[in-house]
Amino acid sequence: MLIEMIGIEKVFKTGKVSAVSKILKGIDLTIEKGEMVAVKGSSGAGKSTLLHILGCLDRPTSGIYRLNGVDITNESSSNLSKIRNKRLGFVMQHFALVEDDNVLANVSVPLLFAKTPFSQVDALSMEKLRQLGIDHLAGQKVSKLSGGEKQRVAIARALVNNTDIILADEPTGALDQENSALIMDIFKKLNLLGTTIIIVTHEEFVANACERVITIADGKIA
Ligand SMILES: Nc1ncnc2c1ncn2[C@@H]1O[C@H](COP(=O)(O)OP(=O)(O)O)[C@@H](O)[C@H]1O
Ligand SMILES: [Mg+2]
Repeated sequence: MLIEMIGIEKVFKTGKVSAVSKILKGIDLTIEKGEMVAVKGSSGAGKSTLLHILGCLDRPTSGIYRLNGVDITNESSSNLSKIRNKRLGFVMQHFALVEDDNVLANVSVPLLFAKTPFSQVDALSMEKLRQLGIDHLAGQKVSKLSGGEKQRVAIARALVNNTDIILADEPTGALDQENSALIMDIFKKLNLLGTTIIIVTHEEFVANACERVITIADGKIA
């Protein structure tokens, strides 16, 4: 089992002193290696919150999260950063790229964080750009690219450390139909190569492209 969540709860403070709201109320979820899963649910249901916990960007208030059978619920922040860097690639609706840097520099960031020898960084980044068919954009400033190109850069960055899990939060939300289809094609191909993919979406065609759909409602998996 790749991912196992047991009774995951998440409580947020809501501004006023001691006011809290429980967003996730006991999520039980298992995901096997190589699955492609869509996460649906209405706005505010807690989809991004769940994705952030899956991606070790945030911690649950209670419950257990196991990755490859290892309970990482109480890992130190620095260990969680390392797990994130080595294993988890994020793809966000609005790309989360450094707009003023070029494509190669953006894709290289996770390699630099992983202390990859400098002599290998450019070649490894170029390899991922080639895999995504955008190596000709390596020297371009991100701000000059189309949305579809930006999202492919973000996917290259997500994969560059040979991460085995992609977490995507509304990855087609800012794209037109044609580019949305292109991005889903890329996810499909990556999935066939063995990458586990978890996609938060409210778009029907994205969910339909996944082999499993889970829906969050009332803080639980419906
Ligand atoms: N850091 C936070 N602090 C307080 N409330 C938050 C925080 N993050 C999310 N929330 C609240 O949790 C609820 C679920 O948010 P989110 O997971 O972003 O929903 P979704 O992605 O399904 O639209 C929302 O009501 C949101 O306002
Ligand atoms: Mg969200």
